[in-house]
Parts: sequence; structure tokens; C-alpha cells
Amino acid sequence: MQIGFSKIGFPKQGALVLGVLEDSRMLAKTQEVDRNSGGMITAAIKNSNFSGKSHQILSVFTPERRIVLYGLGKGENIDELWSEEAGGRIFSSLEKSGEKTVTVIFENHSRTKKNIDKRAAHLAYGALLRSYKFDKYKTKDKLGKDTTLKRINVAVEHHPQAKKIFSELVAVADGIFFARDLVSEPPNVLYPDSFAKKLTALRKLGLKVEVLGEKEMSKLGMGALLGVGQGSSRESKLVVMRWNGGKRAEKPIAFVGKGVCFDTGGISLKPASGMEDMKWDMGGAATVSGLMMALAGRKAKTNAVGVVGLVENMPDGNAQRPGDVVTSMSGQTIEIINTDAEGRLVLADALWYTNRRFKPKFMIDLATLTGAMMVALGQVNCGYFTNNDGLAKEMESAAKDAGEGIWRMPLGVEYNKMMDSDIADMKNAGPRFAGSVTAACFLERFVENCPWSHFDIAGMAWSSKDSPTVPKGGTGWGVRTLNQLVKSSYEA
Ligand code: BES
Ligand code: MN
Ligand code: ZN
Repeated sequence: MQIGFSKIGFPKQGALVLGVLEDSRMLAKTQEVDRNSGGMITAAIKNSNFSGKSHQILSVFTPERRIVLYGLGKGENIDELWSEEAGGRIFSSLEKSGEKTVTVIFENHSRTKKNIDKRAAHLAYGALLRSYKFDKYKTKDKLGKDTTLKRINVAVEHHPQAKKIFSELVAVADGIFFARDLVSEPPNVLYPDSFAKKLTALRKLGLKVEVLGEKEMSKLGMGALLGVGQGSSRESKLVVMRWNGGKRAEKPIAFVGKGVCFDTGGISLKPASGMEDMKWDMGGAATVSGLMMALAGRKAKTNAVGVVGLVENMPDGNAQRPGDVVTSMSGQTIEIINTDAEGRLVLADALWYTNRRFKPKFMIDLATLTGAMMVALGQVNCGYFTNNDGLAKEMESAAKDAGEGIWRMPLGVEYNKMMDSDIADMKNAGPRFAGSVTAACFLERFVENCPWSHFDIAGMAWSSKDSPTVPKGGTGWGVRTLNQLVKSSYEA
């Protein structure tokens, strides 16, 4: 999709989007077009149920062109997120309309004066985010085959500033798209080694990327991670990505992702129905990868580390058994109760390794960890856990700015001791109740004294329905929130 910015005016061709406030009050430019068309807009509003309510849309046809009336509501809510939603909605309503170009007249008015350039940039960003498609495996009916809309132009005063703000947002969109692509790739194409190769390709952005194989991980004593991959014919990998955009001596911030490229459950095999969804059990690793891409792409002034544990959980003659006891890199032993509780095993070693090697300011892990998280919060909010109230505060505000919902979940000794084992230091699966909480408590045992947070993105990584800025499929959830966290609290 092409996106451009220009000064306010009416280009000769293409559809026009014009704003209307609640109670059908037209903005100045809307009035101008209405006058020039002999009152066609007034007439169309009169003959429809369009009244300018927030995000209401009405197409009006003059002899020359399509006019899209866009409802602004009372006008007071027009902030960056509102504008993104509008961009997404404008894109989806015109995508297959026959229009090739649309110009959005982003006009200032008395109710919302501040930051018009920023809001215009975010409108374009919303359209861009919605325009994403994953159709590389369709040989006939490409998802984009009926798409006529090729270009969105945002007409706004201070358009050079809008363009500049937009260019930074494009770097974030690239990261989101990378994460969505990774999540959507089928598991015969995306497995630990091919995933790692996609990450080494990020070196061209200035990221330092290291790939550890099973030999290196054995030497480090990563028995928890390796046990998960041991039934797979694909070699497990651990990938370390580093972005050094901050001061030399400054400690990094660290992001750790669960990258189970396919989760059959292992010997504790999952039921067949819906198992194909488990290709996106590497969603945490995808978000971390997308975030690192975004940070490098926008040259963030921070030192950041991204670590992803990449494995495949398969049943096999060599697979891990329920009842096995493994020794993690930390030296702590784990009794395997259920081979389907594998994500925490991967993260146990990845977190320990990250903490010991980098001594980060904080560690945030992301994982499609438990079905119980979806039972608790559905696909609306991402449940998160943290041992640090300061970090919680920063994340709440970052998530709010990014337009992604998060909800804090509890930790505590009561839950923690539910993971004690009779024969080892802990077990990998506890009782059914509080499954997401006990999983988080398990992870906490591998964090030592580091501010840490765990996002259980089980309900967030994939969506089966379109939303204004996220088409159905892989969502890239979390890239935005974490990028915002870095931007507001961890950049020089
Ligand atoms: N990857 C799954 C969790 C999951 C399930 C994510 C459905 C998204 C949708 C995870 O590895 C898993 O299987 N967890 C088990 C844990 C249990 C065995 C303690 C679960 O949630 O049932
Ligand atoms: Mn599992
Ligand atoms: Zn899993």
C-alpha cells in the first residue's frame, strides 16, 4: 500500500474522505464540497441514518467522485488511537470498492487542536496495519486479488511533520508484520532452524544475532529446554539478538520468547481437533523478534536483548516421558508431569541464561503458555504477571498508549508451592485450577533477583476475526506495547 501526505486540498481524482461531527455538523472543507455539489452531502445525510456518530461511514456519489463521510462524534475523542481506528476502517471500507486512490481530508477544528500532524500520521498507520495480508501460499485466489485501493493520501496542515512521524511508525509496522508472518507460517516451513535463519537475516538492520545449537545448549546445561525438543527430528535452537543503540556501559533490557514451532503436546498428546493452531505456539518468540526488528528499524536509543527458545514438541520413541526428571541450567530439577506443559521448560532455561549472561535491567517474557489464560480473559486482554510494581506501572501506561489491553494477574507463595514435586525441586504441571498462575510461579523460580514480567499471550497471538487495525490471523500482539514501553521509559 502506498501512503502519502500533502497539504489540504482537493486532488482531481480518487475518493475523498470528509469529516462530519455529531448531529450532522460538517467541518469547513466538508461544507465547501457540499456547496460545490449543490448540497448533495446535505441531501445524502438527510436521506440516511448517518449523523456523524464516531466512526460512522457513509458514501455519497457526486457526478465527479465518491465522497466518504466519516463520523467524528463529538470530536473530543480524536486522539492517536481514534485516528488509527479510523484509518483501518477507511481502508477496509474502500479496499474492494473500485477506488484506486483515496484522499483523507484531515482538517483541524476547534474541539481538537493539538498534535494534528501526529494524529494524521496515526491515521495512515492504522490503514497500513489493516492492509496486511498473508497469502503467499494461495496460488489462485490471492487475498488481495479484489483489492483496488492502492494509495491513501492524508491531506493535513504540517504535512512534512506528519510524514516524519509516520516514517518511525513504519519501522514499528515492519516489526508487527514480521511477527504476523512468523506466526502465520506453517510448521513444515517454520521450524527452529528456519526460524533462526530468518533471525540471522536481521543482521542487515544492525542487530547482532547469535544462534546456539543443541551442542552449545548441552554444554550450558539447558536440560529443561533440550528435553522438550528431544522427540523432534528438528534441532532445537536458542537465538540471541542484540540491539546496542544506547550508551556503551548501560545495562540492557531483555525480552524472552517461547518459540515452540509446533506443540503436539508430546507424549501427553493433544486431541486432533484444533491441533493445527499449535503452529502459532511460537507467538512469544515472534513478538520478541518483531520488537527487535522495530527497535533496530527505528534506531532506538537503548540497549536491548531478545532471546528466543526454538523447539518442536513431538511424540517419538526418543521423546520425553511423563515421569522424567530433567536438570535445568539453574541446577534446579524438574519432574515432568505432563509433556504438554513444555513452554515453561523452554522459558526456564532461556530466562536463566538471559539473566546470568546479561544482568538486564528487567526481563519480560512472552509466551502462548496456557489455555487457562484464554479461559480467564478471552481474547480481549493479555494477562500479565510481575514481581515489580514499578514495571507494572510502566507497562500499564505503555499498553494504554499502544491500544493493547493488559490485565495484571497475581503471583504468591500459595500458588508457588502448588508446583513442588515429591521427588524433584518442582514439577512442570500443577492442578487444573489457577493453571496460568501456577505456570507463572514456575517461571518465577528461574528469575532470581531481576525485575521480571511474564505475558501469557495464549489468547492474543492469533485472531479469528478482523478488527479495525488487525486483520484476522497472526496479530503481532505485544510489539506495540513493548516498543512503547521502551520509547517512554528506556530510551536516552
Ligand atoms: N501451547 C499450549 C497453551 C495453549 C493452548 C496456547 C491453547 C494457546 C491455545 C501449552 O503448551 C499447553 O499445552 N499448556 C497446557 C498446560 C497444562 C498441560 C498444564 C494447557 O494449557 O492445557
Ligand atoms: Mn503444550
Ligand atoms: Zn505450548
